[in-house]
Amino acid sequence: MASKTASFLLFSLGPALALAQGKRGLSYNNGTLANLFSGYDQVTWVYNWGFDRIGADSSFDFSPMLWGLPSSDNPDWTAAVQVQGTKEILGFNEPDLGSQANINPSDAAAGYRKFMEPFANQVRISTPAVTNGPPPGMGIGWMDQFFGNCTSCTLDFVAIHWYSNNDPEGFKSHVQQFYKYNLPIWITEFAASGTEDEQISFLQAVLPWLDSEPNVERYAYFGDFPGFLANENGDGLSQLGQVYATYSE
Ligand SMILES: *[C@@H]1O[C@H](CO)[C@@H](O)[C@H](O)[C@H]1NC(C)=O
Ligand SMILES: *[C@@H]1O[C@H](CO)[C@@H](O)[C@H](O)[C@H]1NC(C)=O
Repeated sequence: MASKTASFLLFSLGPALALAQGKRGLSYNNGTLANLFSGYDQVTWVYNWGFDRIGADSSFDFSPMLWGLPSSDNPDWTAAVQVQGTKEILGFNEPDLGSQANINPSDAAAGYRKFMEPFANQVRISTPAVTNGPPPGMGIGWMDQFFGNCTSCTLDFVAIHWYSNNDPEGFKSHVQQFYKYNLPIWITEFAASGTEDEQISFLQAVLPWLDSEPNVERYAYFGDFPGFLANENGDGLSQLGQVYATYSE
Protein backbone atom coordinates (compact mmCIF):
# COMPACT_ATOMS: atom_id res chain seq x y z
CA MET A 1 0.00 0.00 0.00
CA ALA A 2 2.72 2.44 1.01
CA SER A 3 4.76 1.82 -2.13
CA LYS A 4 1.67 2.12 -4.26
CA THR A 5 1.01 5.52 -2.73
CA ALA A 6 4.62 6.53 -3.21
CA SER A 7 4.68 5.61 -6.85
CA PHE A 8 1.37 7.30 -7.40
CA LEU A 9 2.81 10.45 -5.85
CA LEU A 10 5.92 10.25 -7.99
CA PHE A 11 3.82 9.72 -11.05
CA SER A 12 1.61 12.67 -10.32
CA LEU A 13 4.31 15.05 -9.09
CA GLY A 14 7.03 14.12 -11.55
CA PRO A 15 5.58 15.67 -14.69
CA ALA A 16 4.42 18.78 -12.80
CA LEU A 17 7.91 19.36 -11.42
CA ALA A 18 9.47 18.76 -14.81
CA LEU A 19 7.19 21.41 -16.25
CA ALA A 20 7.89 23.90 -13.53
CA GLN A 21 11.67 23.94 -13.78
CA GLY A 22 14.73 22.45 -15.29
CA LYS A 23 14.28 23.25 -18.97
CA ARG A 24 16.84 26.05 -19.11
CA GLY A 25 20.24 25.53 -20.65
CA LEU A 26 23.32 27.37 -21.80
CA SER A 27 25.19 27.74 -25.06
CA TYR A 28 28.76 28.52 -24.03
CA ASN A 29 32.35 28.32 -25.18
CA ASN A 30 34.11 28.75 -21.84
CA GLY A 31 33.41 26.33 -18.96
CA THR A 32 34.12 29.03 -16.36
CA LEU A 33 31.19 31.01 -17.69
CA ALA A 34 28.93 27.95 -17.73
CA ASN A 35 29.79 27.38 -14.07
CA LEU A 36 28.54 30.86 -13.13
CA PHE A 37 25.13 29.17 -13.39
CA SER A 38 25.97 26.20 -11.15
CA GLY A 39 23.53 25.89 -8.30
CA TYR A 40 20.60 27.53 -10.08
CA ASP A 41 18.02 24.71 -10.18
CA GLN A 42 16.35 25.84 -13.34
CA VAL A 43 19.57 25.70 -15.39
CA THR A 44 20.21 22.02 -15.96
CA TRP A 45 21.95 21.48 -19.28
CA VAL A 46 24.69 22.91 -21.51
CA TYR A 47 26.15 22.60 -24.98
CA ASN A 48 28.88 24.38 -26.91
CA TRP A 49 28.45 23.33 -30.56
CA GLY A 50 31.23 20.80 -29.97
CA PHE A 51 32.15 17.44 -28.50
CA ASP A 52 33.73 18.27 -25.16
CA ARG A 53 32.28 19.92 -22.08
CA ILE A 54 35.44 22.07 -21.68
CA GLY A 55 35.21 22.37 -17.92
CA ALA A 56 31.47 22.84 -17.46
CA ASP A 57 30.44 21.34 -14.14
CA SER A 58 29.40 17.68 -14.19
CA SER A 59 26.13 18.68 -12.52
CA PHE A 60 24.98 19.96 -15.92
CA ASP A 61 23.78 17.53 -18.57
CA PHE A 62 26.10 18.02 -21.55
CA SER A 63 24.87 17.34 -25.08
CA PRO A 64 27.61 16.89 -27.68
CA MET A 65 26.89 18.29 -31.14
CA LEU A 66 27.97 17.15 -34.59
CA TRP A 67 28.06 20.71 -35.97
CA GLY A 68 28.49 19.94 -39.67
CA LEU A 69 28.75 17.06 -42.09
CA PRO A 70 32.01 15.16 -41.53
CA SER A 71 33.91 14.12 -44.66
CA SER A 72 34.59 10.66 -43.26
CA ASP A 73 34.10 8.54 -40.17
CA ASN A 74 34.90 10.53 -37.10
CA PRO A 75 36.10 8.48 -34.12
CA ASP A 76 36.09 11.60 -31.92
CA TRP A 77 32.35 11.92 -32.49
CA THR A 78 31.73 8.29 -31.55
CA ALA A 79 33.84 8.76 -28.43
CA ALA A 80 31.94 11.94 -27.50
CA VAL A 81 28.56 10.21 -27.79
CA GLN A 82 29.80 7.31 -25.70
CA VAL A 83 30.99 9.45 -22.79
CA GLN A 84 29.19 8.08 -19.77
CA GLY A 85 26.12 10.08 -18.85
CA THR A 86 25.42 11.39 -22.36
CA LYS A 87 21.66 11.25 -22.86
CA GLU A 88 21.03 13.42 -25.89
CA ILE A 89 23.01 14.32 -28.99
CA LEU A 90 22.61 17.36 -31.22
CA GLY A 91 23.02 17.43 -35.00
CA PHE A 92 23.90 19.94 -37.70
CA ASN A 93 23.86 23.62 -36.74
CA GLU A 94 21.77 25.85 -39.01
CA PRO A 95 22.10 23.68 -42.12
CA ASP A 96 19.71 26.15 -43.80
CA LEU A 97 22.22 29.00 -43.59
CA GLY A 98 25.09 29.45 -46.05
CA SER A 99 27.39 30.85 -43.38
CA GLN A 100 26.67 27.99 -40.96
CA ALA A 101 26.52 24.23 -41.60
CA ASN A 102 24.96 24.81 -45.08
CA ILE A 103 23.71 21.31 -45.97
CA ASN A 104 20.72 20.50 -48.15
CA PRO A 105 18.03 18.28 -46.60
CA SER A 106 18.91 15.27 -48.74
CA ASP A 107 22.61 15.34 -47.83
CA ALA A 108 21.73 16.04 -44.20
CA ALA A 109 19.51 12.95 -44.13
CA ALA A 110 22.32 10.84 -45.60
CA GLY A 111 24.65 12.26 -42.96
CA TYR A 112 22.14 11.39 -40.26
CA ARG A 113 21.90 7.80 -41.41
CA LYS A 114 25.67 7.54 -41.27
CA PHE A 115 26.66 9.53 -38.18
CA MET A 116 23.58 9.74 -35.93
CA GLU A 117 21.46 6.64 -36.53
CA PRO A 118 24.14 4.23 -35.19
CA PHE A 119 23.36 5.67 -31.75
CA ALA A 120 19.58 5.27 -31.96
CA ASN A 121 18.06 3.93 -28.74
CA GLN A 122 21.36 4.47 -26.90
CA VAL A 123 20.94 8.22 -26.67
CA ARG A 124 18.11 10.49 -27.82
CA ILE A 125 18.78 12.09 -31.20
CA SER A 126 17.93 15.67 -32.19
CA THR A 127 17.07 16.88 -35.66
CA PRO A 128 19.43 19.46 -37.13
CA ALA A 129 18.78 22.92 -35.63
CA VAL A 130 17.14 25.21 -38.17
CA THR A 131 16.95 29.00 -38.21
CA ASN A 132 13.69 30.91 -38.36
CA GLY A 133 14.47 31.91 -41.95
CA PRO A 134 11.73 31.79 -44.57
CA PRO A 135 10.44 28.53 -46.08
CA PRO A 136 10.69 26.68 -48.33
CA GLY A 137 14.51 26.80 -48.31
CA MET A 138 14.97 27.73 -44.67
CA GLY A 139 13.44 27.18 -41.25
CA ILE A 140 10.41 24.94 -41.13
CA GLY A 141 10.57 24.48 -44.92
CA TRP A 142 14.05 22.99 -44.63
CA MET A 143 12.84 20.85 -41.71
CA ASP A 144 9.89 19.50 -43.74
CA GLN A 145 12.27 18.41 -46.48
CA PHE A 146 14.62 16.88 -43.94
CA PHE A 147 11.80 14.79 -42.48
CA GLY A 148 10.80 13.91 -46.04
CA ASN A 149 14.29 12.57 -46.73
CA CYS A 150 14.92 10.98 -43.35
CA THR A 151 11.87 8.74 -43.07
CA SER A 152 13.90 5.81 -41.75
CA CYS A 153 15.79 7.95 -39.22
CA THR A 154 15.27 7.79 -35.49
CA LEU A 155 14.52 11.38 -34.48
CA ASP A 156 13.66 11.90 -30.83
CA PHE A 157 13.29 15.65 -30.67
CA VAL A 158 13.27 18.75 -32.88
CA ALA A 159 15.84 21.56 -32.52
CA ILE A 160 15.06 25.11 -33.61
CA HIS A 161 16.50 28.62 -33.37
CA TRP A 162 14.75 31.98 -33.30
CA TYR A 163 16.13 35.51 -33.58
CA SER A 164 13.93 38.54 -33.97
CA ASN A 165 12.85 41.74 -32.28
CA ASN A 166 11.17 41.85 -28.89
CA ASP A 167 8.04 39.99 -29.99
CA PRO A 168 6.93 37.37 -27.43
CA GLU A 169 3.77 36.48 -29.35
CA GLY A 170 5.70 36.05 -32.61
CA PHE A 171 8.16 33.82 -30.77
CA LYS A 172 5.41 31.63 -29.32
CA SER A 173 3.61 31.20 -32.60
CA HIS A 174 6.90 30.35 -34.33
CA VAL A 175 7.63 27.62 -31.77
CA GLN A 176 4.06 26.29 -32.06
CA GLN A 177 4.45 25.72 -35.81
CA PHE A 178 6.89 22.90 -35.00
CA TYR A 179 4.41 20.98 -32.83
CA LYS A 180 3.15 19.31 -36.01
CA TYR A 181 6.06 16.85 -35.93
CA ASN A 182 4.71 15.42 -32.66
CA LEU A 183 8.13 15.46 -31.05
CA PRO A 184 9.49 17.38 -28.07
CA ILE A 185 11.04 20.73 -29.01
CA TRP A 186 14.41 22.10 -27.98
CA ILE A 187 15.02 25.77 -28.74
CA THR A 188 18.80 25.60 -28.74
CA GLU A 189 19.32 29.26 -29.64
CA PHE A 190 16.94 32.18 -29.30
CA ALA A 191 17.22 35.85 -28.54
CA ALA A 192 15.33 39.07 -28.92
CA SER A 193 17.23 42.08 -30.17
CA GLY A 194 17.28 45.28 -28.12
CA THR A 195 18.69 46.71 -24.94
CA GLU A 196 19.30 44.57 -21.88
CA ASP A 197 16.05 45.90 -20.35
CA GLU A 198 14.12 44.99 -23.48
CA GLN A 199 15.60 41.50 -23.46
CA ILE A 200 14.70 41.14 -19.78
CA SER A 201 11.11 42.04 -20.53
CA PHE A 202 11.12 39.54 -23.41
CA LEU A 203 12.41 36.78 -21.12
CA GLN A 204 9.87 37.64 -18.42
CA ALA A 205 7.14 37.31 -21.05
CA VAL A 206 8.28 34.00 -22.52
CA LEU A 207 9.94 32.03 -19.68
CA PRO A 208 6.70 31.14 -17.84
CA TRP A 209 5.17 30.11 -21.16
CA LEU A 210 8.16 27.95 -22.10
CA ASP A 211 8.19 26.32 -18.68
CA SER A 212 4.49 25.45 -18.81
CA GLU A 213 4.33 24.38 -22.45
CA PRO A 214 4.37 20.54 -22.52
CA ASN A 215 5.78 20.37 -26.06
CA VAL A 216 8.84 22.43 -25.11
CA GLU A 217 11.37 20.17 -23.45
CA ARG A 218 14.43 22.41 -23.25
CA TYR A 219 15.65 25.81 -24.33
CA ALA A 220 18.81 27.93 -24.25
CA TYR A 221 18.76 31.72 -24.53
CA PHE A 222 21.71 33.00 -26.58
CA GLY A 223 24.15 32.95 -25.02
CA ASP A 224 26.47 32.44 -22.08
CA PHE A 225 29.10 35.00 -23.14
CA PRO A 226 30.49 38.22 -21.64
CA GLY A 227 28.00 41.02 -22.31
CA PHE A 228 25.15 38.54 -22.82
CA LEU A 229 24.13 36.24 -19.94
CA ALA A 230 27.49 36.90 -18.28
CA ASN A 231 28.62 40.40 -17.35
CA GLU A 232 31.15 42.29 -19.47
CA ASN A 233 34.06 41.10 -17.30
CA GLY A 234 32.97 37.48 -17.51
CA ASP A 235 33.17 37.15 -13.72
CA GLY A 236 29.47 37.11 -12.83
CA LEU A 237 25.98 37.05 -14.24
CA SER A 238 24.65 40.06 -16.09
CA GLN A 239 21.23 41.38 -15.06
CA LEU A 240 19.87 39.43 -18.01
CA GLY A 241 21.69 36.33 -16.76
CA GLN A 242 20.19 36.80 -13.28
CA VAL A 243 16.71 36.84 -14.77
CA TYR A 244 17.48 33.78 -16.87
CA ALA A 245 18.86 31.90 -13.85
CA THR A 246 16.03 32.70 -11.49
CA TYR A 247 12.84 34.02 -13.09
CA SER A 248 9.58 32.24 -12.43
CA GLU A 249 6.05 33.46 -12.01
C1 LIG B 1 14.59 15.84 -50.08
O1 LIG B 1 15.45 16.97 -50.07
C2 LIG B 1 15.52 17.65 -51.30
C3 LIG B 1 16.51 18.81 -51.12
O2 LIG B 1 17.74 18.34 -50.66
C4 LIG B 1 14.15 18.16 -51.68
O3 LIG B 1 14.21 18.76 -52.96
C5 LIG B 1 13.15 17.03 -51.70
O4 LIG B 1 11.86 17.56 -51.92
C6 LIG B 1 13.18 16.31 -50.39
N1 LIG B 1 12.29 15.15 -50.42
C7 LIG B 1 11.18 15.06 -49.69
C8 LIG B 1 10.38 13.80 -49.87
O5 LIG B 1 10.84 15.92 -48.91
C1 LIG C 1 37.10 31.93 -19.59
O1 LIG C 1 36.49 32.96 -18.83
C2 LIG C 1 37.25 33.34 -17.68
C3 LIG C 1 36.39 34.30 -16.88
O2 LIG C 1 36.03 35.41 -17.64
C4 LIG C 1 38.57 33.93 -18.15
O3 LIG C 1 39.34 34.29 -17.02
C5 LIG C 1 39.30 32.90 -18.99
O4 LIG C 1 40.47 33.48 -19.52
C6 LIG C 1 38.44 32.40 -20.11
N1 LIG C 1 39.10 31.27 -20.77
C7 LIG C 1 39.30 31.23 -22.07
C8 LIG C 1 39.97 30.01 -22.59
O5 LIG C 1 38.96 32.14 -22.81
